[in-house]
Amino acid sequence: SGKAGKPARGLRFSPVAPNTKDAVVVPEGHDQNLVIRWGDPILRGAPAFDPDNQSAKAQAGQFGYNNDYMAVLDVPHEDDRQLLVVNHEYTDEVLMFAGYDADNPTREQVEIGWAAHGLSVVVAAEDRKVGKLTAVSRHRLNRRITATTPFEVTGPAAGSKLLRTSADPSGKRILGTLNNCGGGITPWGTVLSGEENFNQYFANADQAPDATAKTRLKRYGFEEGASERKWERFDDRFDIAQEPNEPNRFGWMIEVDPFDPDSTPRKLTALGRIKHEAAEPRLTTDGRPVLYMGDDEEFDYFYKFVSSKRMMKGGSRAAREHNRTLLDEGTLYVAKFTGDSPAKEIDGSGKLPDDGEFDGSGEWIPLATGDTSHVDGMTAEEVYVFTRIAADKVGATKMDRPEDVEPSPRTGRVYVALTNNTDRGKDGKAPVDEANPRTGNKHGQILELTERRNNPGSTRFNWRLFLVCGDPEDPGTYFGGFPKDQVSPISCPDNLTFDAFGNLWISTDGNELGNHDGLFGVATAGGRRGEVRQFLTVPNGAETCGPIVQDRRVLVAVQHPGELDGASVEKPASTWPEGPGTLVRPSVVSVWRRDGGDIGADA
Ligand code: FEO
Ligand code: CA
Ligand code: CA
Ligand code: CA
Repeated sequence: SGKAGKPARGLRFSPVAPNTKDAVVVPEGHDQNLVIRWGDPILRGAPAFDPDNQSAKAQAGQFGYNNDYMAVLDVPHEDDRQLLVVNHEYTDEVLMFAGYDADNPTREQVEIGWAAHGLSVVVAAEDRKVGKLTAVSRHRLNRRITATTPFEVTGPAAGSKLLRTSADPSGKRILGTLNNCGGGITPWGTVLSGEENFNQYFANADQAPDATAKTRLKRYGFEEGASERKWERFDDRFDIAQEPNEPNRFGWMIEVDPFDPDSTPRKLTALGRIKHEAAEPRLTTDGRPVLYMGDDEEFDYFYKFVSSKRMMKGGSRAAREHNRTLLDEGTLYVAKFTGDSPAKEIDGSGKLPDDGEFDGSGEWIPLATGDTSHVDGMTAEEVYVFTRIAADKVGATKMDRPEDVEPSPRTGRVYVALTNNTDRGKDGKAPVDEANPRTGNKHGQILELTERRNNPGSTRFNWRLFLVCGDPEDPGTYFGGFPKDQVSPISCPDNLTFDAFGNLWISTDGNELGNHDGLFGVATAGGRRGEVRQFLTVPNGAETCGPIVQDRRVLVAVQHPGELDGASVEKPASTWPEGPGTLVRPSVVSVWRRDGGDIGADA
């Protein structure tokens, strides 16, 4: 079944073979450098990283831990500079501190953890000849946002009694952001970042004040007893018994203006409270922003928000002021997917139904518009703060863990990474359906959604599965119809991005095929649609994050290198990036062609 001819433009590199090397492995003829590492100083006055003398004060001026999503923006009036906005999803204390005692963390270790969360805004300098990129410390735009930075709450649930605490009786001012995973860039130049697994930071869900509160906490995965990091010993707000509303103040999409280091970042309540993975925008045909958003949990949902206001173009003060309010007013929807093949043909194996595709139609079910709830028995405030419960009530489709989402800038089709769901079809759990067609789904799938008339403001859509991931030799996989003997194996798709040619790039997290995670490019249209080609692999224990594909460079954030069972500073599972005797350090890597040519172009 061989397919003659060249790979799609933008994907003409020699694919990296699956491997288990403790390195970032790139295609032949390519080079790489470390753009920035955990602990590198970015703010004025911050010291160089010293693993034996870490402090919260130092960390607050240094690049944080576990880099995930990255946004890259041009710096006005500065050629050869790029602005990186990077999420720091979480900390792994056992890999950060020698001799860490998980039962008895010190105050300094906990406060380093707070300072290592959040985001970094950091300018980087471009090499003139190749795609090398190097962080610039002390640039005026550099900024750290941490677990203690003040945020303003905006949108219809701002000030709600569900958000008030003893430290903030207004319900409008929250300290910090946690577990920032994926994100997006708005057409007006701000950066969005999703608060994902925020439940893990809180203790004593069993001591919530009443049964209603307990049910709500349970739906979001809050647990009984002490938290893993024991932060509740050092700040009461992480103890649900003492501050029952503090958990409601996390799980939001945040918006940051990266070009104003003094601006107050915001938590956007109109976008709902879920385990926010990411939020990628489009504009409706009449110029209103639409955000697509996944809730990354087994059997959770896919959402979109449609603003009621049109974006103002241009960089005037009036435009900036107006555009700040776009994500505060509109309608929040959740997706329902319907297959077009008979249910008996979806047998759980991944075998294609008789019509040759996993595909169908769908509808966007409204949950709330401004102060109006569309869900029986829930107020609008309750819909925003307990969005999962609202979506449960309206019969949304339970998905296989929606991770990143990316609209194609060429076609407007929206790609959703459904990373895996090993509980799919298991006893007592939701059965397979045409959008989530495999029992015990280990490898995940990528869904392609086309809005009716290609208008993102529409309430109807069509969909089909673009990739059903795994070993191409496994009959239960599908690569957009491309011959499977010519594709790279891929497992657990997570972050997505597009290159200038309209190819989708997919990074993976949790490869279940026995090799390391990596980054892959795939054509979405034309005769090479579905031809998956692997561009790089990451070190032991790492996940590939934040991919950005530019003309001359590919950027990846290597997250949680060395995070394997039983690993610690004393027993490292990885020595990346600096070799034996050093701490493993999550870092951003740039990759380029040695001859200075464009990525994936003909030699
Ligand atoms: Fe933080 Fe769903 O990945
Ligand atoms: Ca079908
Ligand atoms: Ca992710
Ligand atoms: Ca993941």
